[in-house]
Amino acid sequence: MKGPIPENILEDILGKIDIVEVVSGYLPLKKAGRNFKALCPFHHEKTPSFMVSPDRQIFHCFGCNESGNAFKFLMRYERLEFPEAVELLAKKAGVILPQTSSEDPKVASLSTQLYRINELTALFYESRLNSTEGAKAKDYLLKRGITEETIKTLKIGYAPEKWDALITYLRAKSVPLSLIEKAGLILPKENGGYYDRFRNRVIFPIADIKGRFLGFGARVLDNTLPKYINSPESPIYTKGKNLYGLGSSRDHIRDKDFVVIVEGYLDFLMPFQAGLKNIVASLGTALTQEQARLLKRYTQNIVMIYDGDSAGELAALRSLEIFIEEEMSVKVVSLPQGSDPDTFVRKFGIEKLNEEVSRAVNIFDYKIKVLKTRYSHKEVEGKAKISSHMLETISKFKNAVLKSEYMKRLAEELDIREDALFQEAAKINNQRERFDSVSPLAQRKTLNINPTERMLIKLMLEESELIHRIKDSINPADFIDERASRIVTLMLDFIEQGKKIEASLLIHHLGDEEISKIICESMFLQDDLTEKNREMLANDCIKRLRTEKIKHRKQSLHEQIKDAQDSGDKQKLEGLVQEFHTLIKKGEGT
Ligand code: UTP
Ligand code: MN
Repeated sequence: MKGPIPENILEDILGKIDIVEVVSGYLPLKKAGRNFKALCPFHHEKTPSFMVSPDRQIFHCFGCNESGNAFKFLMRYERLEFPEAVELLAKKAGVILPQTSSEDPKVASLSTQLYRINELTALFYESRLNSTEGAKAKDYLLKRGITEETIKTLKIGYAPEKWDALITYLRAKSVPLSLIEKAGLILPKENGGYYDRFRNRVIFPIADIKGRFLGFGARVLDNTLPKYINSPESPIYTKGKNLYGLGSSRDHIRDKDFVVIVEGYLDFLMPFQAGLKNIVASLGTALTQEQARLLKRYTQNIVMIYDGDSAGELAALRSLEIFIEEEMSVKVVSLPQGSDPDTFVRKFGIEKLNEEVSRAVNIFDYKIKVLKTRYSHKEVEGKAKISSHMLETISKFKNAVLKSEYMKRLAEELDIREDALFQEAAKINNQRERFDSVSPLAQRKTLNINPTERMLIKLMLEESELIHRIKDSINPADFIDERASRIVTLMLDFIEQGKKIEASLLIHHLGDEEISKIICESMFLQDDLTEKNREMLANDCIKRLRTEKIKHRKQSLHEQIKDAQDSGDKQKLEGLVQEFHTLIKKGEGT
């Protein structure tokens, strides 16, 4: 756990950032007393048991026991390694990290360089759109109803009708060809040299939520094929990890608490420009779990708009099941044949599109409607087909109540018996337990620590005055739980060094999952203690700690005595019995 990054730097970072701010970049947090709560991102739940404490700078989930400081949150949520999480927070805190040898400077700087090249490229294309050579592209965009303002906001550009416009520009800025190629902006010629990938096309830069340019989409100005050319994947661009427009729309998504997903660039642009701003585009590919989780940071509610042409495709609907698996709510809008969101807005106006969105149909109802147009639900064969398609969707629901409700409704829709559906469901799943799985609360693990020890740790962590007062009457060895004892040892260590006791720091120093959980859990338990309570509790705990310790020792002596009796070791037995007696006397004294 302890990397090559100096401790004092880590402390510096933890001191400067606020875990509430970090977490709320990913989840909607609600105030709950002194803390904040949210639905836990690390397990599935219906009522929030994920807590974040601004005072202590830690989080803890009472459902799955995940816990830790801001580093840990990022590691788990963004699936980062510890040094990566540190790097991210250092940036946020404005702390400069010393160059460490364990980092691969080549990899780090490659992505930085690629972002930089893409940025230069975006600026170049943008400037070309506003030059005479881009006049026809500008004209094309304006004719399609895109305003200057939208062009500016989304940094739309134009790639000139030349083989080497971008190469020449970037070469003049001394960008190495190998890097331009890695960014996917140029292609090798057969007999040496390179040429621009994008030529005579309108350019849509694809940015991530941090505003970094990952790649580009490029549309022809007429009906030539292919209509769009896109950047290939690169070290900084993985398709299916981002959503077009999210950087511009995320605040609106959070505000409205739902997101509209469309397929194409223009389908994003037109509604966005007209005022439907909680929107993103999937760019015509199947939605991925990563995209679902990306959106989940802002909302749980999805409205997918399909073009009239693709609406009836079961494959397209299947792609939406990823949201069901993430326990998000999915609704569908299908536009009339021949319309996509772009043309729909131009033809009927944004109010009509908003109306369609407000009438979106939940995925269950939508899919069954599509299936009924395809198969006859009055005939046996059709019923079997429809139910097998529907069961695939229903099996994705994790919530048992939803699942059983949809089973009931499917049985009604098809006029069949529910138990027949359950039998089929079991077959489809081939793993019946998935279908029977009940509340995730069943997975709840307990930390199994003695409550007295836990309470004492909590009190010591929370009141620096208290710990100073009781530090002399406390001995780490009095704690029966080895983990508790380690925590207390470190706290006393901190005090000796004159350091402030902070949970998020202790966690880091201890570098142990389970111990971190104990600390975090203890801090969120019984959050309503008054000053007086605390004092009494502390005294009480210390007393109890001693009696418990004696009790524990007695128990273990008892066992040892039995062992010694069995093995006939008289000398040992005598010693043990003597200790037992002294203990009893001591116990009577307290
Ligand atoms: P569409 O064919 O629906 O295009 O493809 P569109 O967005 O409506 O574009 P206009 O209105 O004709 O200008 C939807 C999305 O699929 C991807 C693009 O991301 C596009 O926005 N696509 C489509 C490609 O990548 N390449 C193609 O050749 C076509
Ligand atoms: Mn279109």
